Amino acid sequence: MNRETQLIANSTLSVRDQFPAIVNWHYLDSAATAQKPQAVIDAIVQAYSRDYATVHRGVYERSASMTASYEASRAAASKLIGGQPNELIFTRGATEAINLVARTLPKEGRGRVLLSQLEHHSNIVPWQLAGYEIDAVPLTRDGQIDLDAAEAMLTEEHRVVAFAHVSNVLGSILDAKRAADIAHSKGALLLLDGCQAVPRLPVDVAAIGADFYAFSGHKLYGPTGIGCLWGRAELLAELPPWQGGGSMIEKVTFEETTYLDPPMRFEAGTPHIVGAVGLHAAVDWVGVVGGLDIIHAHECALVAETRDALRSVGDVTIYGPDDSAGIVSFNVDGVHAHDTATILDDVGVAVRAGHHCAQPLMRWLGVEATARASFAAHSDSSDIEALVRGIEQVKRIFDR
Ligand SMILES: Cc1ncc(COP(=O)(O)O)c(C=O)c1O
Repeated sequence: MNRETQLIANSTLSVRDQFPAIVNWHYLDSAATAQKPQAVIDAIVQAYSRDYATVHRGVYERSASMTASYEASRAAASKLIGGQPNELIFTRGATEAINLVARTLPKEGRGRVLLSQLEHHSNIVPWQLAGYEIDAVPLTRDGQIDLDAAEAMLTEEHRVVAFAHVSNVLGSILDAKRAADIAHSKGALLLLDGCQAVPRLPVDVAAIGADFYAFSGHKLYGPTGIGCLWGRAELLAELPPWQGGGSMIEKVTFEETTYLDPPMRFEAGTPHIVGAVGLHAAVDWVGVVGGLDIIHAHECALVAETRDALRSVGDVTIYGPDDSAGIVSFNVDGVHAHDTATILDDVGVAVRAGHHCAQPLMRWLGVEATARASFAAHSDSSDIEALVRGIEQVKRIFDR
């Protein structure tokens, strides 16, 4: 059975044809943001047209039904990663989710955080702003977080170990269960930045033993402006609110305010109602095309095909491990990644070029920038063939 057949088992249109934005175009920038399937677009249109009303406050029927949709999205998003609905806070995205933890978690006398050299700026800067000292775990030669080194570096001064579950540049997949065991061995908490993992592999926070898990809806075929922070219930119960306003309070007087329990305690103001509905549609869509196991297998096969093809083209440096998840970073030797991406754009191939919000990793790799091809459920071999034709063009232009 070919990969496409596995993916469309429950659908009448090919996976690719369900994406109206992908017509005569090779979109290889899903790690930046995923294109949206028609099912998600339809859900958003319906939520803003036929179904729209506020949530949690209205006593009228439409508001009650919108509230039910909003809460159904919370249940679906938490189930997707093996959590419970009361453990899932809606945020604007992974960035806000990590900021929430960094800002509210009591340090309890531990002022250090253990990160890695491959972290996205979203998992570096919030800790700096919250006043943590950072230690950064080195990477193995093929671009994995070196967990032996992490084990040796971790001390009882570390409050949190915060790692990317999948690297947005290298695609390396963390051994998350081992990371949790290491963190807990010194009484630290494990936060996983799941921004690139949730769209591309099955995640089970309970099996991992994670304490916090952050991800963004827009990378999972859903809308921008909605993301999730999952946290173990007993940890969330201890966190103070971080933003104040409507919806998060129990009782307000000028003298004193009391707060609702999580997750509402952390959702001040009118939330991104339609974003939540769109996210739910995205979670459902992932299930309809076969689930994250199938998407993961599909993307792994594309990564292997891409790495082989780039090796055959020659004069291309490929970064990251062979078994990376859906992401391949590379440079055509002697050519700046921006030039490569510009020429690829001329032939209808969209890749990202730059530091990918991971400047420490660029320094670690000894480069200013890389070009990055990243896949999604709709990607296929025609994208890789177009990428290779484009790279041959880059080599011709630069006489490589
Ligand atoms: C690994 C990783 N972490 C965090 C983020 C930040 O996500 P957002 O901008 O959706 O908050 C990204 C986005 O590129 C990412 O790839």
